[in-house]
Amino acid sequence: MSAEIIDGKAFAADLRARVADYAATFAQAAGRKAGLAVVLVGEDPASKVYVASKGRATIECGMASFEHKLPADTAQEALIALIDQLNADPLVDGILVQLPLPGHLDEQAVVARIDPDKDVDGLTPISTGRLALGQPGLVPCTPLGSLMLLKDRLGSLSGLDAVVIGRSILVGKPMAQLLLAENCTVTIAHSRTRDLPAVVRRADIVVAAVGRPEMIKGSWLKPGCTVIDVGINRLPPEDGQTKGRLVGDVDFAEAVQVAAAVTPVPGGVGPMTIAVLLRNTVVAAHCNAGVALAAGAL
Ligand code: GUN
Repeated sequence: MSAEIIDGKAFAADLRARVADYAATFAQAAGRKAGLAVVLVGEDPASKVYVASKGRATIECGMASFEHKLPADTAQEALIALIDQLNADPLVDGILVQLPLPGHLDEQAVVARIDPDKDVDGLTPISTGRLALGQPGLVPCTPLGSLMLLKDRLGSLSGLDAVVIGRSILVGKPMAQLLLAENCTVTIAHSRTRDLPAVVRRADIVVAAVGRPEMIKGSWLKPGCTVIDVGINRLPPEDGQTKGRLVGDVDFAEAVQVAAAVTPVPGGVGPMTIAVLLRNTVVAAHCNAGVALAAGAL
């Protein structure tokens, strides 16, 4: 048996095309483009790559991109002042502070300062509370993108057993809330979970977000389950390579023998994160400018 490979890249391209349509309609109605501000503090190489691709994707979708690059030794007060300025800027609909921040900065305080209606990352306490309460609001990009892939494949998720491996604020916790809202029976597993293989074997839906290369084995999976692999891990280079291979948290070669459907790494959840960020920005723009969102799927 060989599982269906869920094509996140194609799904993300589709979503981006739909976002571009909504962005064009918004620009017509509002007389300005929807705008996303991305804040990068310091020189983390991976963060620089992410921020550059977010900026490019924003412009490709017909939205305005505002990049704020600050030195690694930026003071907390200066960063908070920038957030306040972006909160007050009517051309900015979405604000994303790239994480992690340098160690001397209070990440939670910085994120909490973002206007919840511009919180396109869905990470502020208000956004988190809205999600937990089932109120409308902005939802973290990677979990929402993962949910879109699941619903596209499975339709209704109601009554299914879902296991989320990992309890991070960025992925695990919001993912569990989203699955609960879809009426799944949700288990959050983590580093202290006893007999993880037995917990995973119960699941119709497995979401892996632990950051450990190929940790989840084929023998742990229930035959016919759907696997969403959020992990992006680079293995050490093999002979003759300059860079190691990218792998997920799931042993892909084993999982395709057991599961009904699996997301690959790369090309699965990864491309969804930016597509959903753009989606959240255009949705926030409509809300903030008082422009009704046209009916349709976003
Ligand atoms: N760093 C890695 N992923 C993310 C993300 O989704 N949002 C932010 N703000 N920082 C990140």
